[in-house]
Amino acid sequence: MRAKWIGLLIGLIVGIWSCTSKDTAPPEPEAAEPASAPTPAAQPTGGPVTEAAEIYKLRCAVCHGTTGKGDGEAAAALDPKPKDLTTDEWQSSVTDDYLRKIIVRGGVAVGKFPTMPAAPDLDAKPDVLTELVKYIRGLPK
Ligand code: HEC
Repeated sequence: MRAKWIGLLIGLIVGIWSCTSKDTAPPEPEAAEPASAPTPAAQPTGGPVTEAAEIYKLRCAVCHGTTGKGDGEAAAALDPKPKDLTTDEWQSSVTDDYLRKIIVRGGVAVGKFPTMPAAPDLDAKPDVLTELVKYIRGLPK
């Protein structure tokens, strides 16, 4: 008989202990979850300046060269060849409006050769176009 009561008592104590110890247990791993979620900085941010520089590298440098000298890989096959965009003479011979026009509408639109392709998608991205013009203005260095 006495063993039964001791058994019950032990069961009660263990029961209470397991409850209280659970209350004081450290937070569950889920509580730390938000800290490991991707931060906004980890997402591609881009912005018009970055996008313009990328467009030049991906779509213009193949003919105009990474520095704008007209020595891109495809330039050898072109006739006429793209001019050296880094000279003061060339830079002062063109206006920003002219640059916007030839970039968006291509060589034909300004009476030049069709080998200078149009980039009509930039018409819908005026900020990127502005930065691309600035990028070209920044080529002489
Ligand atoms: C397939 C080769 C090719 C690609 C790609 C190309 N261009 Fe051209 N580009 C030319 C050629 C060739 C000319 C010269 C056309 C002429 O003189 O009749 C030219 C002319 C120009 C001119 C005007 C030069 C002047 O004196 O009037 C600018 C500015 C220019 N390109 C910018 C760009 C930009 C910015 C890009 C990318 C969005 C680009 N080009 C992509 C071949 C290319």
